[in-house]
Amino acid sequence: MCGIVAAVGREGNVVPSVIQGLKTLEYRGYDSAGVAIVSDGAIQVRRRTGKIAVLEEDLGQNGLPESSIALAHTRWATHGAPEDRNAHPHRDHLEKVVVVHNGIIENYAELRAELQEAGHEFSSDTDTEVLANLVASLLEENSGDLHAAICAALPRVHGAYALVAASASDSDSLVIARHDSPLVVGIGDGVTCTASDMPALLGLTREFLVLENGETAILTPDSCQIYDPNNQTIERAVQHCDWTPEQAEKGGYPHFMLKEIEEQPDVLARTAFDRLHDAEGDVEFESEFGLDDQALCVFSRLRFMAMGTSFHSAMLGKLFLEEFAQLPGDVVNASEFLYSPKLKEGDALTVIISQSGETADSLRAMREVQSRGGKVLGICNVRGSTLDREADHVVLTHCGPEVGVASTKAFFGQLAALYLLALRVGRARGVLSQEQGFELLSDLRHLRPKLDALFSEAAAQAVQKAADILAPVDSCLFLGRGFNHPIAMEGALKLKEISYIHAEGYPAGEMKHGPIALIDDSFPVVAIATPGRTYEKMVSNIEEVRARSGAVVAVAAEGDEKVSGLADATLFVPEVPEHLSPLVNVIPLQQLSYEVAKRLGKDVDQPRNLAKSVTVE
Ligand code: F6R
Repeated sequence: MCGIVAAVGREGNVVPSVIQGLKTLEYRGYDSAGVAIVSDGAIQVRRRTGKIAVLEEDLGQNGLPESSIALAHTRWATHGAPEDRNAHPHRDHLEKVVVVHNGIIENYAELRAELQEAGHEFSSDTDTEVLANLVASLLEENSGDLHAAICAALPRVHGAYALVAASASDSDSLVIARHDSPLVVGIGDGVTCTASDMPALLGLTREFLVLENGETAILTPDSCQIYDPNNQTIERAVQHCDWTPEQAEKGGYPHFMLKEIEEQPDVLARTAFDRLHDAEGDVEFESEFGLDDQALCVFSRLRFMAMGTSFHSAMLGKLFLEEFAQLPGDVVNASEFLYSPKLKEGDALTVIISQSGETADSLRAMREVQSRGGKVLGICNVRGSTLDREADHVVLTHCGPEVGVASTKAFFGQLAALYLLALRVGRARGVLSQEQGFELLSDLRHLRPKLDALFSEAAAQAVQKAADILAPVDSCLFLGRGFNHPIAMEGALKLKEISYIHAEGYPAGEMKHGPIALIDDSFPVVAIATPGRTYEKMVSNIEEVRARSGAVVAVAAEGDEKVSGLADATLFVPEVPEHLSPLVNVIPLQQLSYEVAKRLGKDVDQPRNLAKSVTVE
């Protein structure tokens, strides 16, 4: 939550690049934004409640001087309401130091009281202003050295932070520090920059290095000097990022979410196709997977953990594993795991799934497993993220940057990766023969052309008809069974998060045990009834809804007149083997949510109260 961008250049004005980068981070928080520069020995700040566009407008009227140093921030409020005075950047009361910060300072109230006692005055309700004052209070005893003052301040701070600071007396350097919140450094030509993620800096450079937990660094136009937690200098190799600036832009689409929904056929190819070893009927992951056949035979179960949409992937990870490898899987909500009894890990492998690789709950769960002696396989979209770096084994999903707050293509990429993982485990353990492996791979290869039907004119019209049913209601239910129970949950999550219509996803068998009481002519049900072992049961559930006057939106295989004859609107999908149906069925549900939210005039890409990367617990 919250996005940071800052840059220090040899010459020229870095403010436009910093604001441009900040816009790509708006997904991390968008209740207020601000920017600071250092010029002629003084810090100047502009901060505005609202989205970055409001700040830009303000800068247009009330411009800042050109500056080769700038720090900017987009906020997701933790301490204090979204108001101009609470927006970042924050200065100390004497305006010697300016700070932008992502994270939470847990002991800010004690520090604030102590600083107030010493004469510091505060104008905001934030923990960040406390940080700025704490650092400023230590400047003098550190001979005005900002890095030294920050190193002296950090041991006193409890919580999570990624911070960037500058001093009024030095317009040639920035100091950065991180603990549990992400920060990357970009090395450009005559400019060094830093941000919460790489896409924010693609306009300036594609050469990056990642700051690790506990490290600090001094950035100047031509250097980045990193210090370890003991203040010893360290060298770090620069990595090249192959994401392009265009991938992080809308490319003519009205919303990122729509663009990302439509990218899914390509995501299938990017996540899966280079890894298919058809001749062997097997999957070949890159070296960072690091688990050979012998290692995969040692585990007696796999535990899948994640949050939100990625948790729905986790549910499918278990189902794929049990189907293809006949190995038991557990699914655990990462935030719940942290507070469960500390049992021995035994011979389990934990799979942590996260688009961003920065979700605080998931990272804490990973570290908890590791501290109990367990091994973690991370499934992640962002190279260089904390999950990518700290997991013992990694599979990257290669979906490209996902910017829409509601996850779509990243979910799809996770499902493809989990399908491959289950197949690999099944082959390693001898549960799947080469021929069976080959069949499963060719199912996946044949899926891509079939997905085209989901983007046809006929499909778009069906989505419109289904949206006619859902857009006017306050509440609805999504039902699915087996492989499509997680898809029912994901469909409901997509609808509620972007349209604010109350929606719940249930395994359809549960309907009669409670939710059926809700059904009447104002309470529709979205039922996933594609071919497979639970098809007839789903048809019976649809009949039960109809008998209570509930409208039905069905997801059904192309040409299924039985289901479409019962439904008020049908989202037809191409017929695929049951184990691939989740990858197909989720797409019209994403399109439906998008259409409903758009009709209701909601902010599709940046729904209220949410942030894409939830870096606080
Ligand atoms: C919903 C959504 C969230 C995320 C969740 C985990 O559309 O995007 O529920 O799935 O916050 O995020 P990651 O996958 O980055 O760990």
